[in-house]
Amino acid sequence: MDQTYHIAEAQAVPACTVVIFGASGDLARRKLIPALYNLRACGEGVGAHDFAVLGFARRQITLDRFRDQMRDAVATHSRLELNNSCWGDFAERLDYLAGLDQPSGFQRLRMRLEQLEANYGLPPNRIYYLSIPPEAIDGTVAGLDEAGLIAKPGAPHFSRVVVEKPIGHDLESARQTNHTILRHFDESQIFRIDHYLGKETVQNLLVLRFANTIFERMWGARNVDHVQITVAESEGVGSRAMYYDPAGALRDMVQNHILQLLALIAMEPPVSLEAQAIREAKLNLLRALRRVSPGEAATLVVRGRYSAGTTDGQQVRGYLEEEGIPNNSRTETFVAIKAFIDNWRWAGVPFYLRTGKRIGARESLIHIQFKEVPRILFNRTGVLPVNALTLRIQPDEGFSFGVLAKQPGLGVTIRPVRMNLRYQSEFQGPVPDAYERLLLDVMAGDHTLFVSAAFVEQSWAFVQSILDQWATDYSIPLNEYPAGTMGPSAADQLIQADGRQWLSL
Ligand code: BG6
Repeated sequence: MDQTYHIAEAQAVPACTVVIFGASGDLARRKLIPALYNLRACGEGVGAHDFAVLGFARRQITLDRFRDQMRDAVATHSRLELNNSCWGDFAERLDYLAGLDQPSGFQRLRMRLEQLEANYGLPPNRIYYLSIPPEAIDGTVAGLDEAGLIAKPGAPHFSRVVVEKPIGHDLESARQTNHTILRHFDESQIFRIDHYLGKETVQNLLVLRFANTIFERMWGARNVDHVQITVAESEGVGSRAMYYDPAGALRDMVQNHILQLLALIAMEPPVSLEAQAIREAKLNLLRALRRVSPGEAATLVVRGRYSAGTTDGQQVRGYLEEEGIPNNSRTETFVAIKAFIDNWRWAGVPFYLRTGKRIGARESLIHIQFKEVPRILFNRTGVLPVNALTLRIQPDEGFSFGVLAKQPGLGVTIRPVRMNLRYQSEFQGPVPDAYERLLLDVMAGDHTLFVSAAFVEQSWAFVQSILDQWATDYSIPLNEYPAGTMGPSAADQLIQADGRQWLSL
């Protein structure tokens, strides 16, 4: 086996209880419970950690029923196969409490936690995972505080809160939410989650950039022609109309996941690997991200909405025909943006960002296209393709570097070839799911992969500069694209107008 270089060990994780607020919801079923199961699963998982899980929600259901539902969720969504004895071990420490919406709910929560901790011999280290709508956050953190469920920072046992996106609906409400949470918790106790940061390939961006010398030297306006970030999804809105329709692609994907990717790919080297240093580097990058000035949204931003079409060989409905979508909806399911970063490194380099639902491919990638070689020697006619580094975040994780090579033969024929690294073939062993990694970091108290309040507000400030124009300028079109295509043709024009092309997926 090749030599490996340990830079940091996985951190020690103290025993604790994870309380999932909104435990009957989609996120708990699809991501949180499977991730927690995987963390314990009989040594097959990332480690046998000592914790209990308490689901807290509104619905009155029996514990047996809750456990059955969660068992089904694990069987469907876990990356590991459900094993009966592992499940038995996990389920023994999986409890449920109804009454999230009742005035006495938080007192009952307190009693149940004390009871659980006594039964399992766990210290009162508590993680409150808020998988609830944003409007419920205020009442929930206040309820926790009133019930005496928040230990002060520095106390012998910790109380931590995990906040899911969306944090706010716009800049103002994001500020208010941050402010509310900070009234009850200290910043050191708050973990704002963006699950993209837990993806292995996203974490690898730092290693790729700062553990290799060649890339960093080429990183910037002198060598880079442009950068593309694409997050394409083949699924539609599914059963999430209630959340998605008031949000749309810009709020759902750009404000968080895409701007996180942008920050990691474009930030200056952090001064250390400490969480604070990385957060500062990312924040500084966002500060330099040029807002879309009034009048520019029509030319720098394209929005779209899928109509009926075919994905994966299946006829699918258009967005307006989806369950729960009002027929006068103006929500975008696709957005493409041409953005600029006004700092020395990136001055003048366009960053093309795009994301959409019901696209003809499920693929997330970052594509860095370098400048052409001088028009001398092999490139006298200026037709040679340029070098490009493509970082594939999912599903086929890895990266490839496009270079030119001489095709063997008597003449001089040049052919583009790809130097390709595929995670799956290069690395063996389990790849933890993003939520596994992030939940473990919350247990360990490591903020590196979490989002600061300031980053949330800066990212909203950028998004808000577009939202304001969409809200007032009715001439900006909402372009239709048939499901299963690559988005509206206006998105192609956005990049083609600059003599460039989207990387074909
Ligand atoms: C979520 C969005 O944050 O990310 C969803 O709300 C989106 O709309 C999802 O589908 C994408 O995550 P992933 O990990 O499947 O790329």
